[in-house]
Amino acid sequence: MTTNTNRNGNSNSNSPGFDIRRIGGRIGAEITGVDLAADLEPALVTEINSALLEHKALVFRDQQLDDAGQLRFAALFGELTTAHPTVPSVDGQPNILPVNGDEGIRANRWHTDVTFVRTPPKASTLRSIVVPPYGGNTLIANTAAAYQDLPELLRELADKLWAVHTNDYDYAAPKNDRAAEHRRQFVSRKYRTAHPLVRVHPESGERGLFIGGFAQSIVGLGPSDSRDLLRLFQSYVTRPENIVRVAWTPGDLVLFDNRITQHYAPDDYGDLPRLLHRVTVAGDVPVGIDGTLSHTLEGDDATHYTPAAA
Ligand code: SIN
Repeated sequence: MTTNTNRNGNSNSNSPGFDIRRIGGRIGAEITGVDLAADLEPALVTEINSALLEHKALVFRDQQLDDAGQLRFAALFGELTTAHPTVPSVDGQPNILPVNGDEGIRANRWHTDVTFVRTPPKASTLRSIVVPPYGGNTLIANTAAAYQDLPELLRELADKLWAVHTNDYDYAAPKNDRAAEHRRQFVSRKYRTAHPLVRVHPESGERGLFIGGFAQSIVGLGPSDSRDLLRLFQSYVTRPENIVRVAWTPGDLVLFDNRITQHYAPDDYGDLPRLLHRVTVAGDVPVGIDGTLSHTLEGDDATHYTPAAA
């Protein structure tokens, strides 16, 4: 698909039925000219999916969707997960996670969503409802670019490694009672899963570093070597050139490919309110470069969370 061009005409086989403007050198594009509340033709959804594969994070400004509209849009890309394996959903909306700063949900660490289960979501949608007047941005990193940036010797090492991902690790102390309660819920069921450190994207075939905050150790290595190696690989993910920064205004929707990105929401807005709703699309079992699949080490199959587990 051609990108970086502005088009106002109808969709055809060579050009999308919307405008795409790249916003980061290596990740991220803003899409205009599409109303996500409308009935989207399958061809248009295919074009959006192609744009997602290419740019990895798509920003749709000023959509003003409600919960039903967000659910409908996310479901165009596959079956939905429930809100989260352990954290309660929005009341009456089992597929929507409230990302509410007031409730202590502040994702201020690099992570890929829910990698502690065997079948993490393939894509996430975030919709801004209340945003602080400053701060409260979301940073999204391209893990395929990080893999490409590795010197050959490190790439060869990464190709051979597996990491253990868990929701139960030594988090920083919660700042207040609400954050402590959120943490308690977060670890109320424990999961540990082994994933390849290099994941092959099931649609694009790209290789990406599949680590992030839930990756706590490397299979076959002790805590100290694990930490050092994970820190080294993660430093390539968080290079500024591999990141796009989304500054929210209310009514925006961001769709990102959870198979080949990490994200981080800086906790820089103090007591100001911030509320996003998150809806995620079920994903398949990650595959390493030799075709080996991820496997569960501890915890249930998360069938209550994702249809992909069945
Ligand atoms: C998340 O981790 O899905 C939330 C990201 C955010 O708060 O921007």
